[in-house]
Amino acid sequence: MPSKGHLNLITNNSSHYDPQISELVSRMDLNEKIGQLSQFSGHDACIPDHLQKALREGCVGSILNEVDGTTIKEMQRIVVEESRLGIPLLIGRDVIHGFKTIFPIPLGQAASWSPELVESAARVAALESASCGVNWTFAPMIDISRDPRWGRIAESLGEDPYLCSVLGVAMVKGFQGDNLADVGSIAACAKHFAGYGAAESGRDYNTTNIPENELRNVYLPPFKAVAEAGVATFMASFSDLNGVPASGNEWLMKQVLREEWDYPGFVVSDWESIKQLSVHGFTANDKEAAFEAANAGIDMEMVSTTYHKHLPSLIGEGKISVSQIDSMVSKVLRLKFALGLFENPYIEADRLPALLCDEHLAVARKAATKSCVLLKNDFQILPLDANNIKSLAIIGPLADDAYEQLGTWIFDGEAQHSVTCLQAIQDAIGDRVELHYAKGIDSSRSEDQGDFAHAVQIATSSSVALMFLGEESILSGEAHCRSDIKLPGCQEQLISAIADTGTPIILVVMAGRPLTLEKIMPQADAVLYAWHPGTMGGPAIADLLFGVHSPSGKLPVTFPRTVGQIPLYYGQKNTGKPATNDSFMHMNDIPLRAAQTSLGMSATHLDTHFTPLFSFGYGLSYTTFCYQNISLSQHSIALGESLEVNVELSNIGNIDAEEVAQLYVRDLVGNVTRPVKELKGFQRVYLQAGRSRTLSFTLSSADLAFYDRKMQLRTEPGQFHLWIGGNSETELRTEFEIHNEVN
Ligand code: BGC
Repeated sequence: MPSKGHLNLITNNSSHYDPQISELVSRMDLNEKIGQLSQFSGHDACIPDHLQKALREGCVGSILNEVDGTTIKEMQRIVVEESRLGIPLLIGRDVIHGFKTIFPIPLGQAASWSPELVESAARVAALESASCGVNWTFAPMIDISRDPRWGRIAESLGEDPYLCSVLGVAMVKGFQGDNLADVGSIAACAKHFAGYGAAESGRDYNTTNIPENELRNVYLPPFKAVAEAGVATFMASFSDLNGVPASGNEWLMKQVLREEWDYPGFVVSDWESIKQLSVHGFTANDKEAAFEAANAGIDMEMVSTTYHKHLPSLIGEGKISVSQIDSMVSKVLRLKFALGLFENPYIEADRLPALLCDEHLAVARKAATKSCVLLKNDFQILPLDANNIKSLAIIGPLADDAYEQLGTWIFDGEAQHSVTCLQAIQDAIGDRVELHYAKGIDSSRSEDQGDFAHAVQIATSSSVALMFLGEESILSGEAHCRSDIKLPGCQEQLISAIADTGTPIILVVMAGRPLTLEKIMPQADAVLYAWHPGTMGGPAIADLLFGVHSPSGKLPVTFPRTVGQIPLYYGQKNTGKPATNDSFMHMNDIPLRAAQTSLGMSATHLDTHFTPLFSFGYGLSYTTFCYQNISLSQHSIALGESLEVNVELSNIGNIDAEEVAQLYVRDLVGNVTRPVKELKGFQRVYLQAGRSRTLSFTLSSADLAFYDRKMQLRTEPGQFHLWIGGNSETELRTEFEIHNEVN
């Protein structure tokens, strides 16, 4: 089984490599050992003298951010041929959503709810980056993200532990392949361990306070899942977790990762995050930082040099033992053996497909197609029929911007390979439809309305206005957080100006996060959310607009109405006074000088409805899917048993399409309170118009386990609700119970 293959590669095969590793470690001096624990940044296709010297002395374990094949080859040659022990290098790179062929941002890929697609995208990224000499990527990022202000939500797989686990594992499989030693496989890295996405106020690098129970039930499951699937490495988070920064967090790295999960791979710090332990105020200086990090279990230091400078004296003083260092080094060496670097450290580009080849672009197009989420489609204005429209106005700063459609974290992607929406629409319609184009504003951030007039003029004289709005790439990603997540610049004014013409508007949004769209929703007749769709975004979006495919993406995160609702996620707790339509009161309905009262009131804001604008799992199609006849194999199972859930899915429209069926449960009573809904299964299915199909899901009592008050993972007997449908607000429900005794 391929999925077990890479798990065993690190765990079981360790015994295979252990004699070689021990022998090698026994020949290493302290400098060489600490070298293996040190990762340095590359220098744009050059190897400065100091780096050459360090490589020759065997004092470098890994290089990051060098992607020039010739330079990498030369670095590998120096360490292999000129250093005393000839230990090859790990070459790390942030290959986050593609290398040269850029796929939708990870959050967009998550909207596909397709593990197969996510795996294929990661596979292509692995093949392309490996052909340049990269053998280790810093992905997947599996931080649960419930705050769209946080710029790195773009890089995440969304808000849900189950979806994030399934897709995270798929990404790991794609990068690592069946065998890490295969040409084209690269090591993956689960990051950022842990809780990084819970940064206060959505400000990157900010403090996180996450109760242990929530950490274990929400934030850790994706990490546990990829650890079990054999992810080669972990990366520590920059953030302070409950008062102890992750890079010095012994509880997290030792107790949870090593002792409880028995994780055999190695842990790398984040960029200078060991040195930053002192900036956090957790250590007084670099030496203490090196001690805390090594002691916690950070095996490799990224970029800063506290290990290099201070581990020797810490060992001399007996604070860190040589056997501890040997164990850290062994883990790094084990990955190098597993990758086959000792047999062949050099790039085998001729055995790998060409960068940006047709197959890779086809995967990118498919990924972008399945990632787009149709949020609105009044009067079925979409799909457009090119034979029945006279003229189209294409408007907006993102209609023809080859760079901005790529999104954040595209160090190696190049705009020149992108196909934009304008180009793709031109190709799709040929000369059947009159096409007019106006950017309207210069960039998504621009406040200059000087070019509105041209946009208004072409909209006025066209049958339909296709608007491409959103956020430029740089407005999301690391350290790029926003306190207000509406359409930036004067885009809201632009859409109003176009709406005033009376021409129907189809809005395509490209963005790195959910935006607050409530205000502009009424102005658009249809809204397609395309995230940052990558190299092939244009053709994919054109295919959807003209009905070659039906949209099938579903939201992997909740879309709030206003920023003040954040954090807003579907798996919330019920509270003692849950919000209901009956109890909800808008401030405008409260009489002036009303007497203070909380009677009959509930967990709501006074100035906005308590529901999201769009819920988790939501996404429309050009057809209509109907779910009915939900049935269970048994309504009562014992602990340790499973039940089968069947539901009939029908495509009752007249367009063939794919749908993502979602299964949710609620554990009604718990030793700790349980979320009002939890995703426990999903299936992406293709159904022809007019056809029905029975979908089956298996749910075991173990799937319902959670960490209780004593932090024990267990399933509690009791009553459960179960829903199946096309989004998290589905009302098609049944019930079952779990009991203690065997039937
Ligand atoms: C990021 C990591 C990334 C690393 C290397 C850091 O700033 O937090 O996610 O892998 O840089 O580029």
